[in-house]
Amino acid sequence: MASTKLLLLSFTIICLAQFIKTDYIAAVVEYQPINGTAPNETVESNIAQYVYNIEQARNSKVQIIVFPEYGLTGLVFNPTGYAIEIPNPGDNTTYEHYWLQKLANAAVAHSMYVVLNLLEQEKDNRNNTTYYNTNIVFDKYGKLVAKYRKINVYEEPAITPGSYNQNQNTFVTDFGITFGTFTCYDITFFNPARSVLSKSVTDIVYPTAWHSFLPFHHSLSIQSGYALANKVNLLAANLNNVEEGIGGSGIYGANGSIFSYYLSGSEGSKLQIATVKNVPTHNNTAFNTFGFEVLDDNIPTLANFKAKRYFESDKYEFRRLNLSQHIVKDEVCHKYFCCVFTVNASSSNASEVYQIMAFKGQIRAGEITDVKLCALLACESEDINTCGERNAKSTAKFESITVETSMPDGPEQYFLPISLNADLNPISNTVFNNTINGDTRTIKYHYSNLKQQNIIAFGIVGNSGVTLSFNFVLIAAILVLNYLYY
Ligand SMILES: *[C@@H]1O[C@H](CO)[C@@H](O)[C@H](O)[C@H]1NC(C)=O
Ligand SMILES: *[C@@H]1O[C@H](CO)[C@@H](O)[C@H](O)[C@H]1NC(C)=O
Ligand SMILES: *[C@@H]1O[C@H](CO)[C@@H](O)[C@H](O)[C@H]1NC(C)=O
Ligand SMILES: *[C@@H]1O[C@H](CO)[C@@H](O)[C@H](O)[C@H]1NC(C)=O
Ligand SMILES: *[C@@H]1O[C@H](CO)[C@@H](O)[C@H](O)[C@H]1NC(C)=O
Ligand SMILES: *[C@@H]1O[C@H](CO)[C@@H](O)[C@H](O)[C@H]1NC(C)=O
Ligand SMILES: *[C@@H]1O[C@H](CO)[C@@H](O)[C@H](O)[C@H]1NC(C)=O
Ligand SMILES: *[C@@H]1O[C@H](CO)[C@@H](O)[C@H](O)[C@H]1NC(C)=O
Ligand SMILES: *[C@@H]1O[C@H](CO)[C@@H](O)[C@H](O)[C@H]1NC(C)=O
Ligand SMILES: *[C@@H]1O[C@H](CO)[C@@H](O)[C@H](O)[C@H]1NC(C)=O
Ligand SMILES: *[C@@H]1O[C@H](CO)[C@@H](O)[C@H](O)[C@H]1NC(C)=O
Repeated sequence: MASTKLLLLSFTIICLAQFIKTDYIAAVVEYQPINGTAPNETVESNIAQYVYNIEQARNSKVQIIVFPEYGLTGLVFNPTGYAIEIPNPGDNTTYEHYWLQKLANAAVAHSMYVVLNLLEQEKDNRNNTTYYNTNIVFDKYGKLVAKYRKINVYEEPAITPGSYNQNQNTFVTDFGITFGTFTCYDITFFNPARSVLSKSVTDIVYPTAWHSFLPFHHSLSIQSGYALANKVNLLAANLNNVEEGIGGSGIYGANGSIFSYYLSGSEGSKLQIATVKNVPTHNNTAFNTFGFEVLDDNIPTLANFKAKRYFESDKYEFRRLNLSQHIVKDEVCHKYFCCVFTVNASSSNASEVYQIMAFKGQIRAGEITDVKLCALLACESEDINTCGERNAKSTAKFESITVETSMPDGPEQYFLPISLNADLNPISNTVFNNTINGDTRTIKYHYSNLKQQNIIAFGIVGNSGVTLSFNFVLIAAILVLNYLYY
């Protein structure tokens, strides 16, 4: 009887302890995979590197570490030899597959939550194999505590999208934080990137193999924009392949601060470590304004980082900004979708070209999606095709920029800010305000009181969540092989 009480008491204490939220130390690994001669050799070499990174992280008392999408295999299109069966989350700490066992052992040995992505296979009762792109999470006892199958696959013909209603995509840590997870291209979709927040999630672990495209889909712009717009901490681990324009990882605070980020023009893996502040449980109805601050500005040279572009200028509506007026308020509309810009710029050079643009329609950067775009872009010349390029001349000092748009509200409306300077960094001290008033949704993105130079893109991208049928998307994706980012 006494021992039962004791057991109950200790059980209660453990339960309570689980709900005390604390700041925690996180690591994300930007990782360049080793390519072996055979699949199993490739994966084993990369597991050895993962274990090494876990050991290194432990020296800094890291509690959770995130590895990128395709980190164990490299970007492979044929999962044969790479994909393995993965059990569902449970109490077991022994695994049939020795890859899982090695990774679980590393989590236990270094007492760390380990988040990683790998190719999963599942055989049905007709011995037919289905492949998934899957994130898994081991806790520090080696238990599998989460499993998530990527929903919005991108140019991955052998991969079956995960189901819309997954219930193993969140986990609660012993430091009291409820994490959610999704993968790469998922970040641009309401489901799962916004819908997962309805599960009391305050922090996101995000393996990605993001192929950056100027000017609207650059890695750090999208990552920092997600944390800013959704008011969550984001731990983003990207694959590293600068010749393909893949790279850019970071640890982003829910209040808009960037604790750490990395984008390099030279090939290489990088372990990033930061203390993450815990935030109040996310309130899905309130997502208002807050500041944004870059805490780490140690950016190496980017000359070799391939600057890919997805920019269909003939589809967009443009207006040139006349900055000789210093304060400019102007509007540009496309198919009744309007973007209003208010700009305060000093010391502008009349020979430089800045355009504001609006677009509502379909883009093919990956799946075909319905988007809305508002952006101020710096251009290399009067040719609008040169807008939002890295070598755009942009010496104007912008005191403030506000971009605002309103539309009838609808389900699964989803918006992210875009901000990028010529160093491919996000712009600091910005504010994102998404308000719904009756039937109208208003998005306002701005910054003030800080002179910003070298801005090449500042705006808003919205995804209405409409996607076409999977088969059609596959065909389309194959047609646009050039535009892949995973
Ligand atoms: C891995 O592949 C090699 C051949 O490349 C083979 O000799 C070895 O047995 C394989 N290991 C396992 C565990 O399957
Ligand atoms: C890895 O190397 C093999 C041959 O050694 C090559 O066929 C394959 O494309 C490479 N994979 C990646 C992801 O580079
Ligand atoms: C745990 O996993 C091992 C290996 O997959 C399996 O043999 C064992 O039956 C499992 N135990 C339980 C209790 O599920
Ligand atoms: C299932 O298919 C695999 C090859 O994909 C084959 O090796 C195996 O024998 C099959 N199993 C059954 C029960 O048919
Ligand atoms: C295996 O699955 C695919 C896709 O669902 C299906 O087209 C095919 O007919 C299945 N094959 C068998 C043998 O069940
Ligand atoms: C969420 O925030 C809104 C607006 O601030 C507030 O009205 C609502 O009560 C909050 N809900 C919860 C569950 O805290
Ligand atoms: C967000 O914008 C709305 C509408 O313009 C405004 O009423 C509200 O105060 C703003 N929120 C914050 C926190 O500034
Ligand atoms: C966000 O939080 C960090 C860490 O607590 C703090 O240093 C920073 O000043 C905060 N930034 C803003 C904009 O509130
Ligand atoms: C830009 O504005 C200045 C000052 O109002 C005006 O003199 C100039 O003609 C304008 N330039 C263009 C191209 O509209
Ligand atoms: C524009 O910026 C200048 C320089 O900082 C400032 O003096 C002025 O008040 C600003 N104008 C407006 C309308 O914000
Ligand atoms: C304006 O830009 C042109 C072309 O880049 C340059 O030649 C000129 O010196 C610049 N003028 C000023 C005042 O900076």
